[in-house]
Amino acid sequence: MKIINARLRHLPGLHTVACAAERIHSITAQAAQALAQPGDLDAQGLLLIPPLVEPHIHLDAVHTAGQPRWNQSGTLFEGIECWSERKATITHEDTKARAHRAIRLLAEHGIQHVRTHVDVTDPSLAALGALLEVQDEARELIDLQIVAFPQEGIDSFTNGRALMERAIDMGANVVGGIPHYEHTREQGVSSIRFLMDLAERRGCLVDVHCDETDDPHSRFLEVLAEETRARGMGARVTASHTTAMGSYDNAYCSKLFRLLRLAGLSFVSCPTESIHLQGRFDTFPKRRGITRIAELDRAGLNVCLGQDSIQDPWYPLGNGNILRVLDAGLHIGHMMGYEDLQRCLDLVTDNSARALALGEGYGIAPGRPANLVLLDAENDYEAVRRQVKARWSIRQGRLLMQREPERVTFM
Ligand code: FE2
Repeated sequence: MKIINARLRHLPGLHTVACAAERIHSITAQAAQALAQPGDLDAQGLLLIPPLVEPHIHLDAVHTAGQPRWNQSGTLFEGIECWSERKATITHEDTKARAHRAIRLLAEHGIQHVRTHVDVTDPSLAALGALLEVQDEARELIDLQIVAFPQEGIDSFTNGRALMERAIDMGANVVGGIPHYEHTREQGVSSIRFLMDLAERRGCLVDVHCDETDDPHSRFLEVLAEETRARGMGARVTASHTTAMGSYDNAYCSKLFRLLRLAGLSFVSCPTESIHLQGRFDTFPKRRGITRIAELDRAGLNVCLGQDSIQDPWYPLGNGNILRVLDAGLHIGHMMGYEDLQRCLDLVTDNSARALALGEGYGIAPGRPANLVLLDAENDYEAVRRQVKARWSIRQGRLLMQREPERVTFM
């Protein structure tokens, strides 16, 4: 396959990208607009990017909002109550069907790399078993990383450590954690040491739900960062949410950021989920309840955006469109300066790929997999401003998805 008349991010003019044997073969600058030959895909001047990435979602809970009842207050706590009622009726086939439905939505929006957290605080590890099957069945559409996520804690949950070990034995790719939810600070710290040991021993990546609270005293990120620094694991570790950072004072943050730079770990923010769930103990002034996205970015740290939920007890909306989350993240994170808008797709492409440690398996360069997406825009700014959609999605050198452009007629 040859893609002609494509625009590439931050490069002038049009380009031809040739693919062969499921990989990108060559990238050539065109002197003028090219005429399509049979078999060519004419990009018509649209923006060709590597696939969009979903770095943080919970596929085991998607499409359960309203079952058996709606979360009326919108709080995290009522969400947990609704989830425990829904959990009682979950089956293997139900989990798989909902995950596949969500994966189709993600793929429709040009996403081809997904990291899902799966609750492993269940002695049967049933959801993990279902998602491992989905990982294989959905490989035509997406590459799926699975995080062993201890929703109810590691050291404060019965057999929590053994369940984490078993989840990795079964095939989970990433070690998770939730230190701020453990019963005591000591358990939070010991859970981080345990999960980092486990990841190091088993050669896994790490992605910890870290300080997902407005409590300014929730300071497990410093523990995770120090463990990461001491072990030299920065390229393999991600801290998700870190919403407490939005409540830390600047004096503490200036010390913390020095450590974060030394550790070199990645960050995922889920701005739509956090603006919805956090700030719930405030009256006014009310905190935004998200991490310091712009400040992390400006400090040279790797930060990206995720959806967290699609229609689950914690978040009733969501449709698989990561550009909607980017739009929200730029607003909530005060990132609408001209320079930010010019490179905003970094937050849902290259930065996310780095958090997922995709390495040479991602990006537009000869020899890399021919996984590509054409967005209905000329540049980052227009893509987010017009909330465009993926027009074509190419996977392993073959056309995976095509969308007809919207047409509006005034009468
Ligand atoms: Fe999450």
